[in-house]
Amino acid sequence: MAMAMARIIAFLLFLFILSSSSLSFSPADDYLLNCGSHVYSTIDNRRFVSDASKSNFFFTSEGSVALQGEHLSPNVPQIYRTARVFAQQAKYEFNVHEKGTYMLRLHFYPINSSKIDLNQGAQFHVTVNGHVVLTNFSGDDLSSRVVREFLIWVDVGKVVIRFVPSKDSKFAFVNAIEVISAPKDLIADVATSVSRDGTGKLNGLAKQAMEVMYRINVGGRKVTPFNDTLWRTWIPDDDFFKAADASSSDKAYFTGRIKYRPGGASREVGPDNVYNTARVARRSNGLSWDFPVSTGYKYMIRMHFCDIASRSLGLLYFNVYINGNLAYEDFDISYSAGYVLASPYYIDFVVDPPSGSSIITVSVGPSNKTSVDEHGVDAMLNGLEIMKMNNSMGSLDGFVSTDMLLRSCPNRRNLSIFIALMAFMCIFMSFYIVAQRKKVSDGFGWTKLSMDVHEVIPKSGNQFAAIKP
Ligand SMILES: *[C@@H]1O[C@H](CO)[C@@H](O)[C@H](O)[C@H]1NC(C)=O
Ligand SMILES: *[C@@H]1O[C@H](CO)[C@@H](O)[C@H](O)[C@H]1NC(C)=O
Ligand SMILES: *[C@@H]1O[C@H](CO)[C@@H](O)[C@H](O)[C@H]1NC(C)=O
Ligand SMILES: *[C@@H]1O[C@H](CO)[C@@H](O)[C@H](O)[C@H]1NC(C)=O
Ligand SMILES: *[C@@H]1O[C@H](CO)[C@@H](O)[C@H](O)[C@H]1NC(C)=O
Repeated sequence: MAMAMARIIAFLLFLFILSSSSLSFSPADDYLLNCGSHVYSTIDNRRFVSDASKSNFFFTSEGSVALQGEHLSPNVPQIYRTARVFAQQAKYEFNVHEKGTYMLRLHFYPINSSKIDLNQGAQFHVTVNGHVVLTNFSGDDLSSRVVREFLIWVDVGKVVIRFVPSKDSKFAFVNAIEVISAPKDLIADVATSVSRDGTGKLNGLAKQAMEVMYRINVGGRKVTPFNDTLWRTWIPDDDFFKAADASSSDKAYFTGRIKYRPGGASREVGPDNVYNTARVARRSNGLSWDFPVSTGYKYMIRMHFCDIASRSLGLLYFNVYINGNLAYEDFDISYSAGYVLASPYYIDFVVDPPSGSSIITVSVGPSNKTSVDEHGVDAMLNGLEIMKMNNSMGSLDGFVSTDMLLRSCPNRRNLSIFIALMAFMCIFMSFYIVAQRKKVSDGFGWTKLSMDVHEVIPKSGNQFAAIKP
């Protein structure tokens, strides 16, 4: 009996350890909004609530329209089937509890509707807490669903997202919003700066606003929000990898357990699915990847390493290059990973894109210390993230500050004027039609009628223009 009891206790203890070791991150603040919808929608076990529900957040509803997409294919997820459309400057305000980095995702899909043509009418700017994050953004350049992701440092107890139509005749829209407090260790404050003049230490990284440009699972498959510890998307590297000599590189896949360690990367920094795949070079000139970026910004480059390819410790050394400049010499992956194989580690670099070029090239290759072992692995990479950093105006999209932007787009138009205008048009049209009917019934000939039409239409256009605010 006692034996059985002890077994049960041991089993329960085992279950407890199992569950606590796989405990997922639970953010202090986690806002998921299904914009323009009156109901919530669940995607990948995540509940996006209606943005009209107003619990602990609010948006300015004046001048906003809830839009329902029409003629959408059945496989479009629920959060993209509705949008909130703003005819004037508007904001979402979220109360947040922590000082620190917030992950912000904006979801856009220019759905078709007979009410408003988002494909033609949308063009807007977006600001977040004093940072410009999008300018002149429009539905035109969106052929599909787009998620733009930002990392924003928050001092005050609020995240404020402003949507600003670029002109009186334009709209802003958004389909879904995520505002999530990031784990404390997600963005370290220090990184290595890399330039032609060598490397240096750079402080104060955590407080910069960043936009995620690339998040790559090197040598692996796409990782979807469902499978990521922070609901991110990681894409394969095939489109960026430069296969100079394909025979000397391989994709590696590891089926064992990834050994997360204090001092290394945490599971939130990168999930198992990223660390258990890699590209490895064997007796090679190294591996190289190219990423198109926009000029005028610094970029943070996070490289994820996990030695899943070596049979033993202390054999793998390599150099890291960014834009051809030596960023890390003789990187000793065994030392960095605390002499544990399959233990993840990451390094942050900050670079300026080389002047005149809009490509960032990341390479790993053999170092002077490389002593090729029997498998010949002499360089590897598991994952890569590239984040654009805000410029001196605090902007991630153009040389413009939030003040300049909000000032240049005065909040003039409001929906009541818009509606009044539409009402005026309707009344005008009905008078016009009645007048036409009257003329026809009065027995005027058809030639006279068509001349009237020519006279009336340009006039109506002028009146319309004169009234437009
Ligand atoms: C909207 O309609 C246009 C024209 O029919 C089409 O090209 C476009 O793909 C549609 N957009 C969406 C989001 O369904
Ligand atoms: C938006 O585009 C217009 C015209 O294309 C340009 O004049 C304006 O400077 C742009 N605004 C911003 C904030 O980039
Ligand atoms: C999650 O990952 C597993 C294992 O890698 C894969 O089989 C599955 O398809 C993934 N699910 C989604 C929704 O991406
Ligand atoms: C490797 O060794 C050579 C010769 O000693 C030296 O010139 C070079 O700077 C070293 N480092 C690298 C990264 O090649
Ligand atoms: C980013 O913006 C902040 C102000 O919000 C500014 O202090 C900082 O210098 C900017 N970063 C860069 C790299 O210019």
